[in-house]
Amino acid sequence: MRKQYGDVVALDGLDLVVPSRTVYGLLGPKGAGKSTAVRILATLTRPSSGRAVVAGFDVARNPADVRKVIGLAGQDASFDDGLTGRENLRILGRLSRLGSRGARRRADELLERFGLAHAGDRLVGTYSGGMRRRIHLIASLLRAPAVLFLDEPTTGLDAPSRAEIWESVRRLVADGTTVLLTTPCLEEVERLATAVGVIDRGQLIAEGSPAQLKAQIGRHIDVVVESADHVPSAMARLERLTGRCPEADGSRIVVAAVDQAPALPLIVSELDASGAVIRNIGIREPGLDDVFLTMTGQTVGPAQPVETPEAVS
Ligand SMILES: Nc1ncnc2c1ncn2[C@@H]1O[C@H](COP(=O)(O)OP(=O)(O)OP(=O)(O)O)[C@@H](O)[C@H]1O
Ligand SMILES: [Mg+2]
Repeated sequence: MRKQYGDVVALDGLDLVVPSRTVYGLLGPKGAGKSTAVRILATLTRPSSGRAVVAGFDVARNPADVRKVIGLAGQDASFDDGLTGRENLRILGRLSRLGSRGARRRADELLERFGLAHAGDRLVGTYSGGMRRRIHLIASLLRAPAVLFLDEPTTGLDAPSRAEIWESVRRLVADGTTVLLTTPCLEEVERLATAVGVIDRGQLIAEGSPAQLKAQIGRHIDVVVESADHVPSAMARLERLTGRCPEADGSRIVVAAVDQAPALPLIVSELDASGAVIRNIGIREPGLDDVFLTMTGQTVGPAQPVETPEAVS
């Protein structure tokens, strides 16, 4: 798929295959083209060129057929804050041609199933962030879709609400739904997805299982020594031990991307022999943010909080 808005190339030949009954995670930073891909696949916009087939239907030639078998929980779903959750769902159900009785029954069933029955008669305007996301998810399920698109389903949620959404997605997949999920969140794809595509500037720059992507990067050894005085000797030992050039930042030393990390006791005894006093040491599995950093030189997701230097008086 290729999509251009004026001079902006939102998608630059994105090519994806998503096996049925799996979760595919599309991971990328802001503006990478994730929502554009979802919008094309959900028939909300057309590709400038290229072709996409969803559940056997061509999105450009048979959009009405595609719409019958998909659900979409978009980044900007429209709910009426002045109506209750149940009322909103009934209206959306009728718009999806479930009929008035069918819409009512389905709304009740889904509210119950996703733990929102108690809040169904409250105004959506009074819902918490987690409840809102859940009702968006419910709205995308009114027609029991074969293919579900979730555009950043948990962005901005706290940990318990995210866990609830993840559990709901797992249940849907167990029941036979195919899910394409976009996210800036590494943990989310590791928790849910069988396959991950890393997207940057409209292109797929890496693809595989979360484990495969992590294996491309290797492990990290993290060492914190007592003070900066201990850094040079510790670094020399670590370099000899791993064959890699360590990096130091204050009293913290990192050896990035070792294919085979030496056993922890060996690292400890070597560092001990070097005379460096160790405060902390660890062998870290890489996260998908390391994958992204290695491939694009950029981090994914919210920037780390930066410590502001104290004003000097
Ligand atoms: N309707 C539009 N008109 C013009 N430019 C657009 C439009 N929609 C998207 N774009 C541009 O296309 C690029 C991809 O946007 P898209 O919304 O797909 O990114 P995204 O990966 O979903 O980002 P985010 O993580 O912020 O949601 C961006 O540069 C964006 O500004
Ligand atoms: Mg988006």
